[in-house]
Amino acid sequence: MQLVDIAEPVVKETDVLVEVHSAAVNLLDSKLRKGEFKMILPYKTPFILGHDVAGVVTKVGSRVSKFNVGDEVYARPADHRIGTFAELIAINEKDVALKPKNISMQEAASIPLVGLTAWQALVEKANLKKGQKVFIQAGSGGVGTFAIQLAKHMGATVATTTSGTNIELVKSLGADIVIDYQKDDFVTILKGYDVVLNSQDAKTLEKSLRILKPGGKVISISGPPDPDFGQEINANWFLKIALKLLSAGIRKKAKRLGVNFSFLFMRAQGEQLSQITKLIESGVIKPVIDKVFPFEETNEAMSYVEKGRAKGKVVVRLR
Ligand SMILES: NC(=O)c1ccc[n+]([C@@H]2O[C@H](COP(=O)([O-])OP(=O)(O)OC[C@H]3O[C@@H](n4cnc5c(N)ncnc54)[C@H](OP(=O)(O)O)[C@@H]3O)[C@@H](O)[C@H]2O)c1
Repeated sequence: MQLVDIAEPVVKETDVLVEVHSAAVNLLDSKLRKGEFKMILPYKTPFILGHDVAGVVTKVGSRVSKFNVGDEVYARPADHRIGTFAELIAINEKDVALKPKNISMQEAASIPLVGLTAWQALVEKANLKKGQKVFIQAGSGGVGTFAIQLAKHMGATVATTTSGTNIELVKSLGADIVIDYQKDDFVTILKGYDVVLNSQDAKTLEKSLRILKPGGKVISISGPPDPDFGQEINANWFLKIALKLLSAGIRKKAKRLGVNFSFLFMRAQGEQLSQITKLIESGVIKPVIDKVFPFEETNEAMSYVEKGRAKGKVVVRLR
């Protein structure tokens, strides 16, 4: 990534222009930079990375109805309209929500992508119910720290994995069963689970199927993409076939075990983010920030995240 001067973004009728105060770094930024998602998200270089923002509305399009100049907001802008590693970004108002009043801009920027991921996995896809058992992998990461708190709020029993140094952190977020993945294998400990939020490799995914009770669900955010995802993104026939093949093995294994596999690629969603605002304002969910970098060090912030050891989120600060 290079720091350059470019023209101000064009503000469409339904857009708000946001002065960026903070942006968070996600592994998705790094994967896009490496070109890993070209089939699904064919960005043309040069483009601006960054999927999370907190800031102030400085202009509104002629048909904007929900926001006014001066509003403090946060968002995960939609795919193909990303670019929060910048001073200004134009975002469709439907992808924006008012920032929780009780947290800072840096904390707010840390929420949208991981918060919406956890919401769409646990609320939308899994329909997690009070009293159910959920296994959330990597509880100390960006998604994990949010998902544990959300699952506890929904009344579930939460098991998670992390390394020894982060055991106290995940317990403080509410995890009931904590497995040090460097010492123990979760597949020998967990049984009869209703839901797994899978964020790790193919081997972990395969083992996750075996801890579910019949009819249980594994929702994977680390692949492989499935045919439903192809429908969601309106993929062409070639991509649809590729997605079918990529997930054929795991879908077959799930079927044999009588459990369900589905892939989630989170999407921008201002309404859901407004629900998340309420949970944060009522103190149910607290942001977890590992490190804040100045804007000029966004490359260093990306390198830090790529190491895979972040405790919660990494944020870049512009103002
Ligand atoms: N599909 C989607 O919509 C979507 C959305 C968000 C994220 N994702 C993907 O989901 C994955 C996780 O994202 P993230 O933002 O939460 O990552 P992250 O914040 O970078 O995760 C870092 C954390 O993972 C833990 N960890 C590393 N290896 C582990 C292992 N083998 N078992 C358990 N924990 C381990 C680390 O804890 P220790 O230091 O203790 O090891 C660290 O706290 C990434 O691949 C990301 O791209 C997908």
